Amino acid sequence: MAIKFLGKTLKNPLVLASGVLGNSSAILKRVHEQGCGLVTMKSIGPEPRDGHKNPTVMDLGSGMINAVGLPTPGYLNMKNEWHDLEKRNFPIVASIYGGSIEEFQKVARFVSSKKPDFIEINISCPNSEKHGMIFGVNPESSRDVVLAVKKEINVPLIAKLTPQALDIGEIARACEKAGADAICAINTLGPGMVIDIESQMPILSFKKGGLSGPMIKPVAVRCVYDIYKAVDIPIIGLGGVTTGADAIEMIMAGASLVGIGSAVNYRGIDIFTKVTKEMDTWLLEHDLSMEDIKGAAH
Ligand SMILES: Cc1cc2nc3c(=O)[nH]c(=O)nc-3n(C[C@H](O)[C@H](O)[C@H](O)COP(=O)(O)O)c2cc1C
Repeated sequence: MAIKFLGKTLKNPLVLASGVLGNSSAILKRVHEQGCGLVTMKSIGPEPRDGHKNPTVMDLGSGMINAVGLPTPGYLNMKNEWHDLEKRNFPIVASIYGGSIEEFQKVARFVSSKKPDFIEINISCPNSEKHGMIFGVNPESSRDVVLAVKKEINVPLIAKLTPQALDIGEIARACEKAGADAICAINTLGPGMVIDIESQMPILSFKKGGLSGPMIKPVAVRCVYDIYKAVDIPIIGLGGVTTGADAIEMIMAGASLVGIGSAVNYRGIDIFTKVTKEMDTWLLEHDLSMEDIKGAAH
């Protein structure tokens, strides 16, 4: 099921989502060996950051809620990871974030020098300059980050969008116009909250958290559908994918590649091999190819 994506050949269309397995080079390598076509690193930020106190993640059965708070050693403190990743024989996406345009640029410049195959900008995290607003909810601020980062890097740029945007198609179009090479959608949905009725308190230490996993799939599919209508660049469809049938649904909405995050917890690290097999079986049974089904729902 090999596939071309922005000039690179991937062994299949499945992508590890950012954040769910961290940044250890040994784990990222293992994910590739267990059948993942493209491996995304956890978002890397400008300064060391601990993230929120526990509890930060909770399984809700139909998905997860998390507020890990973007913990990062900071881009300058990953010598061991970069040392190993520079010798890798598999493709990676380095995900980055910043609290301002300048921070995005600083991290992007450094990360680009480490030669990842792609750089993903996480414009779905709060922007401190604008008092907690998220860059990705506004077409102008999304455009500004893409324009600024694009100047600093020499690998293709992927913009990762939030479902909190009023019109996600408009945001994707602004990113495409500014030079984004692909779109990844979606980041977690929400924020949501879970209250423990015995202690009468929110369970997460940060109180609110983003939703992921099966329960958000219909929102993710709708977002990918809207983005496909709005842009010509390829889309990584992400959110709630657990099975081959889910991946096929994402492709029918318009995705070129399909991301998997929370479901690694439900089906194990070899979920990529399992989902590829399920997709292959479905396509064979229906005598269809990936090209036949891409955007078929439109
Ligand atoms: C524990 C956890 C940590 C995450 N960390 C990041 C992150 O660092 N950067 C990012 O862009 N997305 C992060 N995400 C969002 C996922 O990459 C993905 O967009 C989201 O979970 C939806 O996909 P899923 O339903 O397959 O999990 C995180 C998600 C979870 C559950």
